Amino acid sequence: MTPVHPVIASAPGKIILFGEHAVVYGFPAIAVPLTAVQVTVSATAATPGSGIVVHAAELGRTLSLASVSPDDPLYDALVYPVQLALQTLRYYPTPDLHLTVHSTIPIASGLGSGAALAAALIRAVYAALGQPIDDDTLNPLVYEVEKRHHGTPSGIDNTTIVYARPVYFVRGHPPQTFAVARPFTLLVADSGQSSPTRLTVADVRRQYEAEPQRVGAALGRIGQIAERARQAIETGDIATLGPLMDENHALLATLTVSSSLLDRLCQAAREAGAWGAKLSGGGRGGNLIALVDERCADTVADALRRAGAVRVLITRIGS
Ligand code: PMV
Repeated sequence: MTPVHPVIASAPGKIILFGEHAVVYGFPAIAVPLTAVQVTVSATAATPGSGIVVHAAELGRTLSLASVSPDDPLYDALVYPVQLALQTLRYYPTPDLHLTVHSTIPIASGLGSGAALAAALIRAVYAALGQPIDDDTLNPLVYEVEKRHHGTPSGIDNTTIVYARPVYFVRGHPPQTFAVARPFTLLVADSGQSSPTRLTVADVRRQYEAEPQRVGAALGRIGQIAERARQAIETGDIATLGPLMDENHALLATLTVSSSLLDRLCQAAREAGAWGAKLSGGGRGGNLIALVDERCADTVADALRRAGAVRVLITRIGS
């Protein structure tokens, strides 16, 4: 059996800037990695005969692959990626491997925790068994894991997280990365409401089937906004981004994927001086993003906390 190499692997979170939901229907969306939060997995050799053990440090759970039930709520997030790695590596017999997972990415809040866990776990297993995996091979594996979480994901989360670069994404097309001509500052504010993406995606689908014209027009406009935003980011025209965010948020609200708290938080950010604000990800909870002048980031962050945000990150995109 190949010896186990002690390794540490990681993956960042992600933020969708423009185009969520519309991206499921083939319109473009853009997303950036969020390196302020991440998953780290350290792999070490375990006692002979112990098989694979995954320890989720923050959750205080230790799962043994030999005995865990597929009904365990952590199975898809922590066990399935490891099994997929062993299968694709065609690795037999099961190695004795201890995987310790640390994550600072909040779960079910639109920051890509599931994709980041999968990416870091698969990277760790491959590298520990002496075969570091490249991003092009890793991306479809993480997409497989995403399907278990979300049903019919567009692929934007895994792509942004695996390549850890700004991504312009159109479903079914190779991801394009793009340049950020002038760095800009975003606040990422957590509403504290957890909301499974699977449900909001299914709800938008129902609305689309019932009212294809109205919903199709909203999704199409969201796609145009994403396209325009990409040009603005590439040319450093940051002033254009704020109104585009506001319009994108309003369109998502017509699709019922905002919430009164998200609307209130966006409004509080704008009133405190943000250039624009919108929900990010599946919606009805999770995170929102606000575009700010770096100098008033703290003021807007305070306003967001006063309006009910449970956590606010300040992040610089493109620097
Ligand atoms: O909630 P998140 O961050 O996983 O983002 C979901 C984005 C959607 O467009 C709503 C769904 C998808 O698969 O792209």
